[in-house]
Amino acid sequence: MPADERSARAAADVARINAFFPIMPVLGNRWAATRPFEGRTIAISAHLTTLTATTLRELILGGGKWVVVGASEATTDQGVVNLLRDAGVEVYPLGSRDEPYAQVLDHEPTLLADVGGELIASLVQRRPDLARNVTAAVELTRTGVTRLQSLNLPFGVVNINDSQLKYGVENRHGVGEGLWHAVQTLTGMHLSGRRVGVIGYGPVGRGVAAYARAAGAAVEVVESDPIRRLYAHYDGYPVPRQDDMLRRVGIVVTASGKRGVLPVGALSGAREGIVLVNAGHGNDEIDVAGIKAHSAGVDQVAEKVVRYRLEGGPTVALLADGHPLNIVMNSGSPEPVMLHFALLGLTLEWLTRHPVAPGLVQVLPSIEEEAATLALRALGMGHG
Ligand SMILES: NC(=O)c1ccc[n+]([C@@H]2O[C@H](COP(=O)([O-])OP(=O)(O)OC[C@H]3O[C@@H](n4cnc5c(N)ncnc54)[C@H](O)[C@@H]3O)[C@@H](O)[C@H]2O)c1
Repeated sequence: MPADERSARAAADVARINAFFPIMPVLGNRWAATRPFEGRTIAISAHLTTLTATTLRELILGGGKWVVVGASEATTDQGVVNLLRDAGVEVYPLGSRDEPYAQVLDHEPTLLADVGGELIASLVQRRPDLARNVTAAVELTRTGVTRLQSLNLPFGVVNINDSQLKYGVENRHGVGEGLWHAVQTLTGMHLSGRRVGVIGYGPVGRGVAAYARAAGAAVEVVESDPIRRLYAHYDGYPVPRQDDMLRRVGIVVTASGKRGVLPVGALSGAREGIVLVNAGHGNDEIDVAGIKAHSAGVDQVAEKVVRYRLEGGPTVALLADGHPLNIVMNSGSPEPVMLHFALLGLTLEWLTRHPVAPGLVQVLPSIEEEAATLALRALGMGHG
């Protein structure tokens, strides 16, 4: 696709996102009037998707110099790169240069925003001389927060991963909805009448279970924590043992955040043809290596759909090689992510006016309330 066409497609996607959930344009109008970022250099590590473009196009209206590094080659949309460059943002996609993080840091940022902690860790460990310029930073992800906990941070980093809004909206509704879109896109399966098992009943498992039930599936929940198992019971789900559940369900979804929660040994008694889906972290909740090592036959049914005939056991269908399916398929509504990005923008704006002590700090409840109020207005429910 020619560069102009890619950029036009990205711009059309940004317009579509803003048309039905205009949370960012409201903030953009405010930042254009108040110019909170004037005189600052803001470095951002982000997935270069149209969701990020929707956010950055409004942030830059608040003044300042914006420098962006792509967080992953796999998620980089070249149309977004072109669109951001046209808007005056310096963009360093991963893979295109030797040292994109170092190049971003050469701009001597005063504020940082990160997904995964790589940008902040690069500054702290490789360019500590630049730390004195930095007033504060923001981290968006669990991986990044965990990584930053092991560093001696010379400036304050606001953790917006552990916000109430992320748990209550993105983890629960964003994943719950997006995951089933992705399953249907890959397999064509209709959920009503199917038996579904969910392993882990945190916000992610709760959403996955609720959206499956809403689509007509009979859902069972396996949860190791007795309190959450009780919640699942009162939400109306059977809460059997895992081996019992696996004998019955046609689809099982892992949502525990724990490595090896579905070991190959547990699948020996599973229902024939069971579909294995991961909604949790990384690709190690389902024992993918064990499945491959113990399979007597492999059949690539479709893209990202592989059936393995287990030795002495059933045939299992593994989706997306055990990676979190909604992320691999980039599926679901953009609203939960836009809400998280609004929280990012509001936090950056707040940091231009307020000092924070060095180390990790939680996002303020008042900023979360403001983001929630803006989301309600974007949904046409701005009363109260
Ligand atoms: N796919 C996505 O887009 C996406 C988005 C957000 C979070 N996540 C990931 O999803 C995972 C779950 O997120 P969460 O917010 O619900 O986390 P959480 O930690 O609140 O919930 C996980 C639940 O799994 C349970 N569990 C752990 N081991 C178990 C086992 N062996 N058997 C049964 N239950 C078990 C825990 O008791 C807990 O209740 C995390 O790894 C998170 O990083 C994925």
